[in-house]
Amino acid sequence: MALKDWSLRRKCTLLLGILIIDGALLGSMGGIAGARVAGNAGPDSYIADNGKDILTKPSSEKLVALTFDDGPHAVCTPMLLDGLKERGVHATFFLMGENIEGNEELVSRMKQEGHLIGNHSYRHIQLTKEGEDKVCDAIEKTEGIISGITGTRPQYLRPPYGDWNDELECRMNLTTVFWTVDSLDWKLQDTSQIVSRVLKRTGNSDIILMHDIFPTSVEAALQIVDTLQAQGYTFVTVDELMID
Ligand code: NI
Repeated sequence: MALKDWSLRRKCTLLLGILIIDGALLGSMGGIAGARVAGNAGPDSYIADNGKDILTKPSSEKLVALTFDDGPHAVCTPMLLDGLKERGVHATFFLMGENIEGNEELVSRMKQEGHLIGNHSYRHIQLTKEGEDKVCDAIEKTEGIISGITGTRPQYLRPPYGDWNDELECRMNLTTVFWTVDSLDWKLQDTSQIVSRVLKRTGNSDIILMHDIFPTSVEAALQIVDTLQAQGYTFVTVDELMID
């Protein structure tokens, strides 16, 4: 699909000004085992060493999971859902609580069309920098909004920036989901660069991080699906891939 309409493209990209995206803070060091914080924390600080959480089930099939953070987005998300439906693909959406208002129908649609809905907290904050109570409130608030729409409590959490620690793990009875392939879609915002970056890095049982708030991400995701399906991959939701 091509998004030639510049007003749409603009609307779709407006969020960028206020959002700092997950991959921005985490540089991946040999996959997910040990993620480096860029910025204030200094180049030698490591957070979110949660490799255990992304151990995936052995499978003779070629499986891969697409994950989308920071939505729902009123313009980009429906385009993505249309494209995934046409291709018979189920993905995982980690929703940000504050973006759900006004987009409730998109959340119902995700559920109806077989996608997995996870929690991405309420606002895009770095959870380990907040107090535990505030973190739990933010996660529970989003949980309440999602389950109010779908009737199902989300069991999977992707912390913004992948920033999480063991103390938070103990408080929240959720499975945290990181990623093994960072598309850097928020930064590249160029369809062919995103596609080539992801295809170069993706193999069996990978979890791909993308954001359904940019038109280039939507275009890239659908091209990635077409290519990997042609190579015999099946797209699954993260619960089908992960060992809890
Ligand atoms: Ni995010």
